[in-house]
Amino acid sequence: MASQQQKVVRLNTGASMPIVGLGTFQVKGENACKLIEAAIDAGYRHIDTAQTYENEKKIGEAIQKKIDKGVVKREDLFISTKLPAACLGKDAVKPCLLKSLKELNLKYVDLYLIHMPFGLKNKGDGTLFPTTMDGKLLLQIYDITETWKAMEQLVDQGLTKAIGVCNFSRYQVSSLLMIPDIKHKPAVLQVEMHPYLPQERLVEYCGENGIVVTAYSPLGSPKPNGNRPMLIEEALVKGIAHKYKKTAAQVVLRWNIQRGVTVIPKTVQPERMKQNIDVFDFTLAPEDVDAITETLGKKKVRFYEFSWAKNHPEYQLE
Ligand SMILES: NC(=O)c1ccc[n+]([C@@H]2O[C@H](COP(=O)([O-])OP(=O)(O)OC[C@H]3O[C@@H](n4cnc5c(N)ncnc54)[C@H](OP(=O)(O)O)[C@@H]3O)[C@@H](O)[C@H]2O)c1
Repeated sequence: MASQQQKVVRLNTGASMPIVGLGTFQVKGENACKLIEAAIDAGYRHIDTAQTYENEKKIGEAIQKKIDKGVVKREDLFISTKLPAACLGKDAVKPCLLKSLKELNLKYVDLYLIHMPFGLKNKGDGTLFPTTMDGKLLLQIYDITETWKAMEQLVDQGLTKAIGVCNFSRYQVSSLLMIPDIKHKPAVLQVEMHPYLPQERLVEYCGENGIVVTAYSPLGSPKPNGNRPMLIEEALVKGIAHKYKKTAAQVVLRWNIQRGVTVIPKTVQPERMKQNIDVFDFTLAPEDVDAITETLGKKKVRFYEFSWAKNHPEYQLE
């Protein structure tokens, strides 16, 4: 089991990142603490959080417990967190990471990601989602080149091992790569990705440019009682799962991984946690990968539209 759990991909920094990480969005308080302890016990070594998830402190506490008990060492773990949209201004970048590090009780993170290309106004009081009196989010334009340069300094100062971006389009990633004196290229692009949204050209582009893609919502973010399509209930996925004697979730994670994409499924259920990391003892036949992409990719469902940012000049999801 241990070797399965440690399967890694190499970043353009030379560092290794476990292919399967744990998503932690919407898990707060003691639940976050318990979740991380259980995840480390289950073999997870890659944890994805964000300042806006408001769980960094509890994640930090859980990590410290496991280090104190000798279960893991800091260097065994790969921790990523994210720069909030309200902190895209160059002067806000370092204070924001320092705040996350303090919450996480860490000296460095392994990956610091710009959470989104569309900025929000920085009110200077730590407000993460500043709004107008009538509740509309206050959009703000920032110079992303300046933001990136501030991110690069964090690497030079040893506060993060690698830097990357989330929710950037192919064009936006290419703009970053074209910064004339770029010192640290993005190591990771984290975007929504699953069979309903295969984003093949983006995966190809990142591969050509040495950027690892991480799929968020890799299971299609199932909400059993909602009105959204349920990827893991699709007959095609269930049929393939039956053939390989695996669960639908494992098939979908494997579909991502076989395309060279890393995954950060979120679950609070211990059994699912084990299932989601236990995906290295089978391989989908190429025709099964293609059938999933071709059949379900046509549906082109995107769960995270960030509709509040539609009027922002940096709003472009593809
Ligand atoms: N960068 C960004 O802008 C961004 C945006 C969204 C998400 N993310 C990251 O990506 C992570 C994952 O995304 P997500 O939570 O939207 O979607 P997801 O991981 O695709 O799906 C999570 C849902 O699937 C259920 N689930 C997990 N494992 C399962 C299994 N084996 N069988 C059946 N159901 C299962 C979970 O329920 P239970 O918990 O009840 O098991 C939860 O409701 C987040 O937690 C966050 O870390 C990043």
